[in-house]
Amino acid sequence: MLHGDALPALTGPFTVGLLFLSSSLRTRVGFSVATVRLGGQPIEVSSTRWQTGMSEPEPFLDTLRVVSGMVDAVVVPVPFVLDRVAVSSWCVAPMVNAGDGVEHPTQALVDLLAIEEERGPVEGLHVGICGDLTGRSARSLLKLMARRTPRRLTLMAPPGRSDPSVLPEGPLAERTVVLDRADFADLDVLYLAGLAEGTGENRIGPTRRAEFALTRAGLARLPEGAVVLSPLPLIDEVSEGARGDPRIRWLAQSDRGVSVRMAVLRLLLQPD
Ligand code: CP
Repeated sequence: MLHGDALPALTGPFTVGLLFLSSSLRTRVGFSVATVRLGGQPIEVSSTRWQTGMSEPEPFLDTLRVVSGMVDAVVVPVPFVLDRVAVSSWCVAPMVNAGDGVEHPTQALVDLLAIEEERGPVEGLHVGICGDLTGRSARSLLKLMARRTPRRLTLMAPPGRSDPSVLPEGPLAERTVVLDRADFADLDVLYLAGLAEGTGENRIGPTRRAEFALTRAGLARLPEGAVVLSPLPLIDEVSEGARGDPRIRWLAQSDRGVSVRMAVLRLLLQPD
């Protein structure tokens, strides 16, 4: 697995552009600390250039080109879907997709590292993913699990949050069960993917959302040795009475974000 903590600092000074156009806590701090621990300097950019008199903010691709021309690598989370073709022709430094409208690849690496360090090789585990399967973290974890397949996979989501395009195909599909309710019995790992209320025809009311929350009743069905993980943030998907359960390991999972991002930056900046 990717682990950056044991790696020596990179040789020579380097800079990493953190072009954070999305709200972020864990990813931002993770990449920032990872850069410093590797011996580099993070350069934070939190908005595109705009001032009164400009008809609109400077376009994203112009911003990406400028930042990537001044740093050794660039880390980019955005609230829209990154156009890979456009990005690859505009960005002149190695770039990490740090979360866009449909993907969160480095979070999936953090998730898999947490699963394996907490419970062992994923190939031997029954993993449950509960919540919005169309969210970027769940999508990326499902993509990674198509390559590192669990023994069994149970997906739990309300209708409208389990788009067929995100469901497993191939060998993993044969080991996957899809439920429209939460059932934590027999899991080794419970991954709470989050379940936002949504808007319009995708809105899910509080009663339906509560069915997918982590409660003491749900935890009573979860096996003793299981662990509960989440990419965070979780807002109200956990009841107060459930928060103190020792099987909840999502803060230790979040702590691994620095190590994983060190390994990712190292691969980009010094691949040998
Ligand atoms: N898990 C995650 O990406 O958290 P942030 O959005 O706070 O970075």
